[in-house]
Order: sequence, then C-alpha cells, then structure tokens
Amino acid sequence: MKKIMVTGGAGFIGSAFVRWELAQHPDLHIVTFDKLTYAGNLDNLKDVDPARHTFIQGDIADREAVLAAAEGCDAIVNFAAESHVDRSILGADEFLETNVRGVYNLAESAKTLGTARLLLVSTDEVYGSIESGSFSETDRLNPRNPYSAAKAGGDMIGLSYFSTFGLPVLVTRGSNTYGPYQYPEKVLPLFVTNAVDDEPLPLYQGGEHNVRDWLYVDDHARGIDCVLRLGTPGEIYNLAGGNERENITLTRRILELTGKDESLIKLVPDRPGHDRRYSIDATKAHALGWKPEMDWNEGVAQTVRWYQDNEWWWRKIKSGEFRAYYARQYGTVK
Ligand code: NAD
Ligand code: TYD
Repeated sequence: MKKIMVTGGAGFIGSAFVRWELAQHPDLHIVTFDKLTYAGNLDNLKDVDPARHTFIQGDIADREAVLAAAEGCDAIVNFAAESHVDRSILGADEFLETNVRGVYNLAESAKTLGTARLLLVSTDEVYGSIESGSFSETDRLNPRNPYSAAKAGGDMIGLSYFSTFGLPVLVTRGSNTYGPYQYPEKVLPLFVTNAVDDEPLPLYQGGEHNVRDWLYVDDHARGIDCVLRLGTPGEIYNLAGGNERENITLTRRILELTGKDESLIKLVPDRPGHDRRYSIDATKAHALGWKPEMDWNEGVAQTVRWYQDNEWWWRKIKSGEFRAYYARQYGTVK
C-alpha cells in the first residue's frame, strides 16, 4: 500500500493510527479526511510529517468530497463517527447521519473507485452487554443505545457490500480505548482533568456495577493495521484489551495517580440503558499475529501523566463547546 485515506483521522484513535502508520511504513502517504466536528482536532496531528500527510476537511456523507479525496488511494480506513454514548442519548440525528449514512457513502464510493480495501473501525458495544463469558464475531448483535445501534447499522451496510458486490470490506470491533488525545467527555480523560482541577468525578451507579475492557490506543492502532494488511475481506475481527475493570477500580487508580481522595467522587443518576459489562474474544485477531502489549496499570499511569503534562491540549477544549454539553449532561454536579 502506497496511499491510504483515513477518515476521522483528526479524532482520538484515528490520529494515533495516522502516527502509527507513518512511523511503521516509511513509503506510505496518508490522506486524512475529517469533518472537524467538536471531537476533531488538528492539534492531534501536529507532529505528523507534512510531506507524507495531506489533510482534507470534509464529511464522509458527502459523495463528491469522498470520491475526490479517495481517488488513487489503496485503502480507506474509517474512524469517522459520532462516538459518545451519552450524547447519543441526548439526541441521535448526527449518529445516524455519520455512523450509518456516512458508512454507506464510503462503501458506494469505494465500489465506484474500485478501492482495494475498506476497513470499518467498529466497537464491541454492537454486541451489547454480557453477564459472563465473551462475545465472538459470530454472536448476534444487540446494541442497546443509539450510538451502538448506529455503529451496528454501519457494520451491516458495509458488510452487505461484500456479500452483494464483492467489495473488500473488513470490520474491526475494539474494546474501550484509552490514551493521550482522547476528548475529555469520555470517562478516563474526564475524570483525570476534573481531578486535576478538584472538580467532582460524576460516577454512574457507584462504579461497582459496570465493567469495561480497556485497550491502550497504540495497541488498538496496531490491531487495525494488522487486520488491514493481513485480514480476510468480508470478515470481522474483535480487538480486545484483556483488561476488564469495574469503573470504581479505574476511578480509584486515577485518584491515586493524581494524588486526590475519594471525596471527589460524586454519585450521579445512571445512564439510561447503561450496559453492565462488555467482553469480547479476540482469538481470531490473535491468529493474525496481533495482541495488545500495554500493561493496564502502566498504561493508565502514562496516560494520566500525559494529561498532567499537556494542559495546553485539554484546557482549551474544556473551556469551549464542552461547557454547554457538560451543563446539559450533568447539570450542576457538586
Ligand atoms: P472521536 O470522537 O475522538 O473522533 C471521531 C472523529 O471523526 C473526529 O475527528 C470527528 O471530527 C470525525 N468525524 C465525525 N463525523 C464525521 C463525518 N461525518 N465526516 C468526517 N469526519 C467525521 O472518536 P474515537 O474515540 O477516536 O473513535 C474512532 C472510531 O473508533 C469510531 O468509529 C468509534 O466508534 C470507534 N471506537 C471507539 C472506541 C473508544 O473507546 N473510543 C472503542 C472502539 C471503537
Ligand atoms: P465512556 O467513557 O462514556 O465509554 P462507553 O460508554 O463507550 O463505555 O464510559 C465508560 C464507563 O464509565 C461507562 O460504564 C460509563 C461510565 N461513566 C461514568 O460513570 N461517568 C461518566 O461521567 C462517564 C462519561 C462515564
């Protein structure tokens, strides 16, 4: 592969993928195509070499813009999405537009151009909650909030283009991802940055009920790279972190690392339809040669340190659009 298009490459995982690809593949050129929604941020790409990277601002639901940008690319890797569950509960129009229609548009565009690979970055949340054991790729989908339902819709429309038209579509389903440059609406950066400012940590359900499986962002990027290059078209690959933790465990670790105490924890009303536990089996991706490498304790420590050292990155985010969202989502949490 000489040139790939990364849609949503100015977001959290997409920008880590861009950095990873450019570092690993010296002859590769990347076209990042991103709408720059509230979550898109060119600061995330400030370190990439401009000689090997082109940025185009555009919407994946815009056919003409996608066709023009994807022309001559060997692959399209889609990260573009509305990605936050709580926002999808407040209103889901954009989730349907980007996560379903946008993916449909990418599939149509790849079909028109004869693009050699279309990889759709998806999520373990499409399987829904599981009490014990882990979901495999063949399990039925049971998304339980508008975000994950829209992601499942995108997966289905994409895979239908493999069955119907032979379009070489691949799907990855990663678990909860953490690391630098994550928009501070997600639990880890929200709690770290609130703790730094001695602001309350709004924990749903006391944090003992809900379990997430944590995957370090560079491990996720490596997994997507592995599936892009070695995966079989038409197939789905789970990318699991292998680090299941109750939310209270993560919260206590953040408090420990920031030197704050548990009085900062504030119990707030639960998220409606809150999935209790996510767990996926990644045997299939392991057979391609991928496995996550970051130790959870170390990964969280490095990540907390990154937010402590990079206030320039998150302070301007938290003083912008984020404030209106925070007030709407949490009211005045005191
Ligand atoms: P993010 O919200 O940080 O970034 C999303 C990016 O997509 C932003 O740069 C945004 O500007 C862009 N975008 C949104 N709508 C667009 C549109 N219509 N056209 C073009 N660009 C658009 O998200 P993230 O956390 O980096 O997640 C990336 C992908 O990985 C998503 O598809 C998400 O569903 C999936 N995923 C995320 C996690 C996680 O824990 N964050 C886990 C598994 C899978
Ligand atoms: P989140 O980071 O939103 O990811 P997802 O919903 O995609 O798993 O939330 C992770 C977990 O943290 C989830 O169980 C909800 C919980 N959570 C809180 O307790 N308080 C919060 O303010 C947020 C954003 C999440």
